[in-house]
Amino acid sequence: MPPTIRSIGISTGGGDCPGLNAVIRGVVKAALLDHGWRVIGVQDGFDGLVWPERTRELDHSSVRGILSRGGTILGTTNRGNPFAYELVADGKKVAKDFSQLCIENARKLGIDAMVVIGGDGTLKIAHDLSKLGLPVVGVPKTIDNDLSATEVTFGFETAVQTATEALDRIQTTAESHHRVMIMEVMGRDAGWIALWSGLAGGADVILIPEIPFTIESVCSKIKEREQFGRTFSIVVVAEGAKFPPKDASGNPIPPPKPGSVGTTLAHSIREYTGKDVRVTVLGHVQRGGTPTAFDRLLGLRFGVHAADLIARGQFGRMVCLRGGEIQSCPIEEAIGVYKIVNPKSDLIRTARAAGVTFGD
Ligand code: F6P
Repeated sequence: MPPTIRSIGISTGGGDCPGLNAVIRGVVKAALLDHGWRVIGVQDGFDGLVWPERTRELDHSSVRGILSRGGTILGTTNRGNPFAYELVADGKKVAKDFSQLCIENARKLGIDAMVVIGGDGTLKIAHDLSKLGLPVVGVPKTIDNDLSATEVTFGFETAVQTATEALDRIQTTAESHHRVMIMEVMGRDAGWIALWSGLAGGADVILIPEIPFTIESVCSKIKEREQFGRTFSIVVVAEGAKFPPKDASGNPIPPPKPGSVGTTLAHSIREYTGKDVRVTVLGHVQRGGTPTAFDRLLGLRFGVHAADLIARGQFGRMVCLRGGEIQSCPIEEAIGVYKIVNPKSDLIRTARAAGVTFGD
């Protein structure tokens, strides 16, 4: 028997991602038009459940014109875990458990079920809240595309498009100055953004966490290009790329942190080749701005299907894309199971056949 639902809550947690607003629109439109529910926007992840004044009702006008907007109209945070909420008391950092408060506040707000949009961290919290009695359904999001439960996450295509356009621009200045240009991209421990944008943008070297590389191999590609009169080279490096312990001269390379991965690589390439090297860290540019049509559509489909899961009482589940269709799976199944690049996949084969070096 389907549950009686009058109002649902919706929140976005973790790092933002292009397409979040499309999901919000899909949920709100389906809730109002299809199911006749009220929708309460819970702001900044779960913060709105800790402080109910940070909630607001969402109606048709709230979601008007938001499909093309990046970010999230609800705000987000990658802090604010209600099970260990960090506060400063008497000048000291303390962690408080506000989980029961969230359950009580949800009840007081009249929230019968919640749609939680987030990455694995946010979905894990949602799952834990559901065990305390708050019915939830999940929507996966990340530009990194590293969740194994879904074929693709919205936001990934936009990030790849942005990185590819940046590479197109880097290419022309690299050629003019006969330089090695390194572009560092995001992706945590997965090389999807580096691989897709590197291939689409015609990179000569792509370094991803899944394929260990050596400085010698990277530099011999650059030198080989020189011999053929190609006096510039483009290197795309994923922020999670695993550096060799030593450079070509035997000097230790301390594992760099995201944001300084490109610079560390530049230092070694400069030493080894004597070439002029420049670095671009694309950073949060990849996360901002207008989502592609594909990401908007996937977001909308996820949103509408999340509302359908609630209507059918299928709580504790997450929407996902499988075989091009929107399906669902238990949230538990999706948490902590990462999808990384298979070094034997056709994409890697395509790249190698097209002359790309992975530095191995
Ligand atoms: O998971 C998305 C992501 O953009 C990663 O690619 C990146 O490592 C991280 O978030 C950056 O997080 P923050 O916005 O906290 O710097």
